[in-house]
Amino acid sequence: MPVQMPARTAVVAANWKMHKTVGETAAFLDRFLGGIEQLEGVELFICPPFPSLPAAVERCRRSRVLVAAQNMHAEPQGAFTGEVSAPMLTELGVDGVILGHSERRAMFAERDEDLAHKVPAALGAALTPILCIGETESERDADQTQAVLARQISTDLAEVADERLSEVVIAYEPVWAIGTGRNATPEQAAEAIAFIRSQLAARDERAGEAIRIIYGGSVKPGNAAELLSPETIDGALVGGASLQPGDFKEIALAAADSSASPAESSGSGAGGAAGSRS
Ligand code: PGA
Repeated sequence: MPVQMPARTAVVAANWKMHKTVGETAAFLDRFLGGIEQLEGVELFICPPFPSLPAAVERCRRSRVLVAAQNMHAEPQGAFTGEVSAPMLTELGVDGVILGHSERRAMFAERDEDLAHKVPAALGAALTPILCIGETESERDADQTQAVLARQISTDLAEVADERLSEVVIAYEPVWAIGTGRNATPEQAAEAIAFIRSQLAARDERAGEAIRIIYGGSVKPGNAAELLSPETIDGALVGGASLQPGDFKEIALAAADSSASPAESSGSGAGGAAGSRS
């Protein structure tokens, strides 16, 4: 019997990577936070480098913008030089953390087995994990996209209890589209996201319906509206184009418009916040 599910709220996150000093973070937010009323109904995350987190938390405190880190260690403390733990982030007032970004997987040897510990550690510290998964170009060419996604989902989320699965945000980020200016088509993104959702639904029907799955990879103001138009794409993880407040706002606006579209209110949604995706 179909279960009536609450609507999914769109998420748009700015992954600044290793960009912006504390001063630049403050300057960005001073501009960005003015006039975000039109972004009602979209959950917004700013994800700056570690040193800028306190300034971002301070500036965003009286707004609806959330702050996330870009990585963390799975252990709460220990002899792990150069690492930062989930409780340290929570103490700063951080709301979430990007985990498993392809740059960390490729350049810092992060494995699915590491993520299997990190995702529950983040949830345990009340941080929203934004878990990145996606195939490389050669994996897509070899018709391995679904196998890669299935492996990443099953391993990375293995230690998350079914009832907490929907607290995770999954970012489908085809590696070939990241920082290349070559975005996936809305159809490619929607197809991969539908597959991810089906995998999760097979594990837990309720979580499969409720979990937010967003797209990342060369999202720009010029392609955001089209990329975010499929009903099944719940938002975007934005790298390069999130560094300019005006560009990031335009992308978030596209998500707000697409989530407010009347066509969607006929879906599975059960009301929920204004502007929520169904
Ligand atoms: P991009 O990066 O938007 O610059 O392609 C996306 C990401 O790495 O999350």
